[in-house]
Amino acid sequence: MLEGKKIVLGVSGGIAIYKVVDLVSKLRKRGAEVRVVMTEHATKFVSPLLFSEISGYPAAVSSWEGGRPDSSVEHIALAEWGDLMVLAPATANILAKAACGLADDLLSTTFLAAACAKVVFPAMNTGMYENPATQENLATLRRRGIAVVEPASGQLACGVSGPGRLPEVPDIVAYLERFLAKREGRLRNLRFLVTAAGTREPIDPVRYVGNRSSGKMGYAIAREALLQGADVTLVTGPSALTPPPYAKVIRVETTQEMLAACLDVYPEVDVVIKAAAVADFKPRDVADQKIKKINPEEGMTVVMDQNPDILKILGARKEKQFLVGFAAETQNLLANAAEKVRKKNLDMIVANDVSQAGAGFNTDTNIVKFLYPDGTVESLDMMTKDDVALRLLDRVMERRER
Ligand code: PMT
Repeated sequence: MLEGKKIVLGVSGGIAIYKVVDLVSKLRKRGAEVRVVMTEHATKFVSPLLFSEISGYPAAVSSWEGGRPDSSVEHIALAEWGDLMVLAPATANILAKAACGLADDLLSTTFLAAACAKVVFPAMNTGMYENPATQENLATLRRRGIAVVEPASGQLACGVSGPGRLPEVPDIVAYLERFLAKREGRLRNLRFLVTAAGTREPIDPVRYVGNRSSGKMGYAIAREALLQGADVTLVTGPSALTPPPYAKVIRVETTQEMLAACLDVYPEVDVVIKAAAVADFKPRDVADQKIKKINPEEGMTVVMDQNPDILKILGARKEKQFLVGFAAETQNLLANAAEKVRKKNLDMIVANDVSQAGAGFNTDTNIVKFLYPDGTVESLDMMTKDDVALRLLDRVMERRER
C-alpha cells in the first residue's frame, strides 16, 4: 500500500526523533515518497541535512527560507502534494496547536492546510501525555477524523516509566500500511477466515499425533489479505511463526477446537481459506498420565477415531461464503483435489503435491494448481508462499465477482 504514496512527515522536537530517521528510510524502501517538515525545536535534535539526505528532498523548516522562489506558500504546496500526513514524533505542543488550529510555523500551517488523511503518533513524557489538556486535544483530533496512535509504554528518556514512547519503526510502518489498506485496499470491505498450521491430537499429557505443517502457507494468506484491507480471523494450530499484525488470532490445538473456532466466526465471514493441515484421526483414549515404557515384544496399539471434516461441515452450511480448500496429496493430485471440491461443496481448491521438492510442508515455496467446480485447472510454477497467496487472492476476487 505504500508503493508510490506521497507522505508529508511532520517531525517535532522530541527525543524519539532518532527513530524517525530510520522510519523515513523504511518508508522509502517500500516505495513511498517522503517530504519532511521539521519544527525549529526538532532541528535542535537532528540537523535538517540528515532528513534531506535520507528522504531525497530538502527538509523544510520555515515558510520564509524554503529555498524556493514561492517559499511563502511552501505550506500550501506541501499540503497539496501529500496523500497522507504523518506527525511523528508528535509532541504535546504540536498536538495542542493542531487541536486549536494554530498556524505559527511551517509544520502547524501545513497540518492545518492539508486536506489529506492524517495520522499522529504522540510521544512525550507520561505526565504530559496523561494530562487532561493533552488527552482533550487528542480527543478533538480523533473527533475530526485524524487517526491517533496510542504511544507505547516503557522506560522514557526522562527516567519515567509509562505510556509516551514512540512505537518502534516496524510497528509504525505496519500501522501505516494497515491504515492505507483499510481506506483503499481492494479487500477493505471483506471479512476472511484463514486457517493455518496443523492440529494436534493428544495421546497422553506430553505426546500428540500431529503433522509437519509450519503455518507458512496460511500465515502468508492471512498477511496478504490484511495488507489488502480485509479483516482477518486467523485460526491457527501450534506454530513457531509470529502472526501478521492486525489479524484476530484464535489459537487452537485439536481438530475439535479448530471446528468450534471456525463455526463461531463462519456466519460473519465472506471468504474462508482453509490452509490448515487438519488431523483426520485422534486417539480414542487419552492417557491421564505420561505413558511409561512399553514391552518391546508386545508393542503398543493406539486405536484412532475419525475426526470431523471441518471443511465439509462448512461446505454443507454455506450461504454467502466463498469457500477455498487446500488439497495436500502425494498421488493422483488432480483427481483427488477435484473430488474434494465436489464432496466439500467448495468454490475453489488449491492442490499441492506435497511429495515434490519445493512444495507443501514447511517450505518457503509451493507448487500449486487451482481447481474450480467447473473443471477449470490453472497450474502455477514454483513460487514463494507469499506469491501463491497473492495469486490466490486475485482468483478469489475474480471468481467472487462472477
Ligand atoms: O503450513 P505449511 O508448512 O506452509 O504447509 C502448507 C500445507 C502443505 C499444510 C498447505 O499447503 C496444505 O496443503 N494444506 C491442507 C492440508 C490438508 O489437510 O489437506 P487435506 O487434503 O488432508 O484436506 C483437504 C482440505 O480439507 C484442507 O483444506 C483441510 O484444511 C480440510 N480438512 C481436512 C481434514 C479435516 N478433518 N478437516 C478439514 O477441514
